[in-house]
Amino acid sequence: MYKYRIGASFTFSFLRNPDSTYHTQNWKTKVQSPSSGVKDSKQVKMSNEAPTIPLLTPYKMGNFNLSHRVVLAPLTRQRSYGNVPQSHAILYYSQRTSKGGLLISEATGVSDTAQGYPDTPGIWTKEQVEAWKPIVDAVHAKGGVFLCQIWHAGRVSNTGYQPNGQAPISSTDKPLSPRISSNGIDVAQFSPPRRLRTDEIPLIVNDFRLAARNAIEAGFDGVEIHGAHGYLIDQFLKDKVNDRTDNYGGSLENRSRFALEIVEAVANEIGAERVGIRLSPFADYSEAGDSNPKPLGLYLAESLNKYDIAYCHMVEPRMKTVAEKVECPHSLQPMRKAFKNTFLVAGGYDREDGNKAIVENRADLVVYGRIFLANPDLPRRFELNGPLNKYNRETFYTSDPVIGYTDYPFLEATT
Ligand SMILES: Cc1cc2nc3c(=O)[nH]c(=O)nc-3n(C[C@H](O)[C@H](O)[C@H](O)COP(=O)(O)O)c2cc1C
Repeated sequence: MYKYRIGASFTFSFLRNPDSTYHTQNWKTKVQSPSSGVKDSKQVKMSNEAPTIPLLTPYKMGNFNLSHRVVLAPLTRQRSYGNVPQSHAILYYSQRTSKGGLLISEATGVSDTAQGYPDTPGIWTKEQVEAWKPIVDAVHAKGGVFLCQIWHAGRVSNTGYQPNGQAPISSTDKPLSPRISSNGIDVAQFSPPRRLRTDEIPLIVNDFRLAARNAIEAGFDGVEIHGAHGYLIDQFLKDKVNDRTDNYGGSLENRSRFALEIVEAVANEIGAERVGIRLSPFADYSEAGDSNPKPLGLYLAESLNKYDIAYCHMVEPRMKTVAEKVECPHSLQPMRKAFKNTFLVAGGYDREDGNKAIVENRADLVVYGRIFLANPDLPRRFELNGPLNKYNRETFYTSDPVIGYTDYPFLEATT
């Protein structure tokens, strides 16, 4: 039995058996403990106790007692007709709920200017808040912890999604080139954005604050601020987009100001212990790359400590775009070390890789996107080391309330 220190504040005892199936080739010969160094396999074999799968060990994130570390990633599914969550989402989210499991909702618009895709949900109207309630209740009924990912698309939008056909807002007025849509078929057209005036920025910060308040009203346990993947917050963070000359552009401090003001406003509104943020410093999705991503990620991780928020969720550098894994020399380790509270990682993880991230103390929780989308009982499959359903990319964003949404089979049904 080895003692592991996980994150800044939580220690738990860990049982390992080198014969358990989660071990990688490496682990069979040596097992790395963050506190005690390398153990040889003989020492490990002395334990007669049942194997423990690292991903399935409990974790305390502030006030949330999680029973395992397999987190549902935020996944846009474009089935919220007219920006209102629909009753089919009750089944979808409850299928992916396990007792003590953490779920992050699909990106949810903070205002009527936030949208950039068809049928993504919002949380700025009373109707939307009411529509979320039975979905959140269903997750809670099964013992899940549910966070709402609050989001603004910024310039990843066009006038068709904007009130009165106005231009999308951004940190810049630089337009985005048309690109093949996430469905791989259509060409997404973006309208030239309108650069926010300095005096308008507090209004957008306030939209995030109100959205967080609404999320709590809807019953969510907290929010994740979407600061990743080239959307509005990222359009401020990254120097390849942000060409401002005011207090919100130029230096790292200035480019990070908008994100941190949102964190502060949201934390003050609903309590820091209910707030997380997602960041992707290394990604360049929607032409939002940075010429110096590591200092940017580090600066953010360090600055976030001031607000004492529950977690920082970072997307692996190997994910240049949302769903494309590439080889890459960068690492999230400096940010993991710099951030004092819970650290979540996402991007291209499988069971082996996720277990390894936990054992090597590279993350506290591992976030799964595509394989959780296709395997509603993912934690159970990890427990049994069961086979995985393959995901069907063609139905990621189609609007059918069942197909590709709630019809992925459970393991028990397939065996
Ligand atoms: C269908 C789909 C929808 C996604 N929607 C969101 C989203 O709403 N918010 C977000 O932050 N990331 C979104 N992502 C990114 C995922 O959360 C995740 O980071 C990405 O899929 C990589 O993880 P994976 O390899 O486990 O799938 C989406 C990805 C996919 C495939």
